[in-house]
Amino acid sequence: MTDSNSTTESIPLLDISSKRTLGLCQSYSYRSVDPSKHRPTIFIASYPKSGTTWSQAILYYLLSNNAEALDHISSYSPFYEVDKTWDEHTGSIHPKYAANFDIIGHNVFNTHLLPSIMPKIEEDVYAIYVMRHPYDVIVSFYHHLTNQIDGYDGSFREFLELWVQGKIIYGKWVQHIRKWVEAANSHVLILRYEDMKADIFKSIKRISEFLKLDRSDEIISAIVPKITFDGMKKDKEKYQPVSVAWKEGHEFLRKGEVGDGATLVGPEEAALIREMILSEFNGEYPEWFPYKL
Ligand code: A3P
Repeated sequence: MTDSNSTTESIPLLDISSKRTLGLCQSYSYRSVDPSKHRPTIFIASYPKSGTTWSQAILYYLLSNNAEALDHISSYSPFYEVDKTWDEHTGSIHPKYAANFDIIGHNVFNTHLLPSIMPKIEEDVYAIYVMRHPYDVIVSFYHHLTNQIDGYDGSFREFLELWVQGKIIYGKWVQHIRKWVEAANSHVLILRYEDMKADIFKSIKRISEFLKLDRSDEIISAIVPKITFDGMKKDKEKYQPVSVAWKEGHEFLRKGEVGDGATLVGPEEAALIREMILSEFNGEYPEWFPYKL
């Protein structure tokens, strides 16, 4: 879990992301899905536990014009860097996704990769990068990994010490945000989980405008109740990752709150997180950085 695979930037990745798959991820073009269909591609990108699934749900409803076809979110925005998303013989995206991409008119993926392992985000490729407060991310991540059968079994403090060193899958949270913000161009929309919680209508509208979908306020209002925490919870089997064996009673849609990090992050843990962030920026927060602790 902590260091199963590495990349040129030396972040630990899941052991279901082979070197071959990572190479395919980097050299992706629309032809990687279906050479005959030149659909735009959208990546929902994030550090784990930052609101990825939530953003995937919003994007599904926006692109499908609020259709009811959703069986499972991973059928419409598969996990980009895992081996099973790719056809093992052809090196293309698995053909089972093509019909769903036809319905939504776009090729859509979710990813936690750094931009250096991605295709260029330009021309007909777009990315929506969602970020979340580090206390809430690490607490959500800890619950995520400790509630898997044979998952992480250390204490929160032990986990945090590995996390601030970048030894947990997907590496240092602060580096992830920094790389994405530094790589951002007009084809990258950066969202914050906290802003989505504060005004979800506005966030959906921003996504719609960014992608030039220009959905009406009526459509957006109809989408809202489906993608609130309670709305998604009613349909939780559509959102819970299917490839993970969870311990009895764990809910992937766990709390969905801003500020839950305070349940486990005390002053000592906060100091370690602050140190990690400041050392990334040579002791001073850059102006753009939204989580000045
Ligand atoms: P918590 O563990 O704090 O509850 P990801 O999809 O990136 O793995 O992120 C999962 C986190 O987003 C979980 O946080 C989950 O509950 C939360 N989440 C999922 N859907 C949400 C929604 N509609 N509103 C608010 N939070 C949501």
